[in-house]
Amino acid sequence: MEKKELDLVAKVAEIFEKNEEFILDKWIGLIKSENIISNESELDYYLTGFKKLIKDFSFYLKIGDFEGYYRGNSELAREIAYNDISYPKFVEAFHLFEDSYSELLTRNIVHCDLLKCMGVIDKIHHTTISRVSQAYFEINDVTVFALAKLAELRDPETGYHLERTREYSVILAKELGCAEDFIANIYKVGPLHDIGKVGIPDRVLLKPAALTDEEYAEMKKHPAIGANVILSIIADHHLSRGYLLMAKDIIMHHHEKYDGTGYPCGLKGEEIPLSARIFAVVDAYDAIISKRPYKPALPHEEALRRIKKDSGTHFDPLVVEAFFRIHETLHKTYEKYKEDFKFGVQVK
Ligand SMILES: [Fe+2]
Ligand SMILES: [Fe+2]
Repeated sequence: MEKKELDLVAKVAEIFEKNEEFILDKWIGLIKSENIISNESELDYYLTGFKKLIKDFSFYLKIGDFEGYYRGNSELAREIAYNDISYPKFVEAFHLFEDSYSELLTRNIVHCDLLKCMGVIDKIHHTTISRVSQAYFEINDVTVFALAKLAELRDPETGYHLERTREYSVILAKELGCAEDFIANIYKVGPLHDIGKVGIPDRVLLKPAALTDEEYAEMKKHPAIGANVILSIIADHHLSRGYLLMAKDIIMHHHEKYDGTGYPCGLKGEEIPLSARIFAVVDAYDAIISKRPYKPALPHEEALRRIKKDSGTHFDPLVVEAFFRIHETLHKTYEKYKEDFKFGVQVK
């Protein structure tokens, strides 16, 4: 930012400092008249957040400390996003906030600088709004993960299986050169892979011995049970892109095999979505090296041996190649979680 712009920001910071109460009063009047808030506690959240925003703006931007200011924005983000205030409402309220001081700027900034000043402030606000939207995304991620954890309660795959597999999948997807969106999505929805197990009867799901053919057939329904839930959401909301589509792919196809002998659809090779091909490998890797009610934990080297043996039949050979390039990082991830999980009891 050039010197002139920095001076203008410092000037606005001063105006905010001197007129904090005036700005807040005017802003409250505006959001009330526009029916942005539905109750008094919502108003409190906004007030706490925006008071902090004005204070930080005056304090940090008077001295040009932009990072300090943006760090403070996370407080606003938390106040707003974590208190069930809808994102569109927040954006509306934020624009009214801009209206609540625009007159002060017109009065206190010389006319020839005004446009430049508005432009600079607009840029700063843009960053603030994206910080807040980030907080909304985080809540959404947490909610999706909570859903997966809830489904996992019925599953003998306890411990940090979901946390570990999603970390492995990100490492592997990066190694495969996947796009940023793809990586963010696999982190978010990978934990849902076995959500359909909620529809499997306990006598099958929790059986501590080998399953009969009939029970195994029952168990093999879990991908379709889970995917159908997601598919109905996709259909109801006419979605054609986004993380739910990847969720459907992983849930439905994580038991497909590269040679077409898997289930439920018997897809072959690249007919199997890449997210599911990645998840098949990391899910198997974690299952092999973890203790399960029906098997002991096996060494990392044994997992390597088995995955290599099944490359091209069960697993996509290219995914396996990438897996072998980063397997040590995956093993470290496994060890990191193992320390927190002792004797079947989560200690953290
Ligand atoms: Fe599964
Ligand atoms: Fe799994």
